[in-house]
Amino acid sequence: MKIFLDTANYEEIKEAASWGILDGVTTNPTLLSKEKEDYKTLLKKICQVVEGPISAEVVSLEPVGMVKEAEELVKIGKNIVIKVPISKDGLKAIRMMSDKDIKTNCTLIFAPIQALLAAKAGASFVSPFVGRLDDASHYGMDIIGQIVKIFENYSIKTEIIVASIRNPLHVVDTAIMGADIATMPFKILQQLVKHPLTDTGIKSFLADWEKVKKG
Ligand code: G3P
Repeated sequence: MKIFLDTANYEEIKEAASWGILDGVTTNPTLLSKEKEDYKTLLKKICQVVEGPISAEVVSLEPVGMVKEAEELVKIGKNIVIKVPISKDGLKAIRMMSDKDIKTNCTLIFAPIQALLAAKAGASFVSPFVGRLDDASHYGMDIIGQIVKIFENYSIKTEIIVASIRNPLHVVDTAIMGADIATMPFKILQQLVKHPLTDTGIKSFLADWEKVKKG
């Protein structure tokens, strides 16, 4: 399973990359709005720290406008992937981008059939939002299992990015279900490393080592 960070914060991305486990980054207009730097400069810096896919979202609502934005965004870095919200026009834009060899991440997916349509249009990735489904009293992870099954049924190569992750169990379930990627806030990534038994274990090993040194 690949691990992506869902943030536009350069320091967080640099830190996670230094752990040797970061496979990519997803951003969106909300995440970019939280940062002070100009978004193009920021995306360029992110592309230089992480070799894997870096998603940047278009904001036009019609296909030609989306493709124009995409053509500008891909100039920022060779690993830029264009995030396109699912809609009829979004599907048209994904097909047009796919025909131009521009990689796409179809976002705001809340139903398995939307993921199938995006894959058929040529999306490289689909992003189902599990946390927002949980917020609306639907088990978000249910649609992940369904999308994994559908993609397996038809040998679809589009990768599934489990997005809107809110807790470590979403990540564990992503791995158990066999989805390709979990994208998460840095806070969740930090939670994944920690275990109280690891902390007490290290403390007691160090205390015992002091006894060994004293003889
Ligand atoms: O990648 C999509 C993600 O940013 C949405 O997360 O927490 O705003 O639902 P959230």
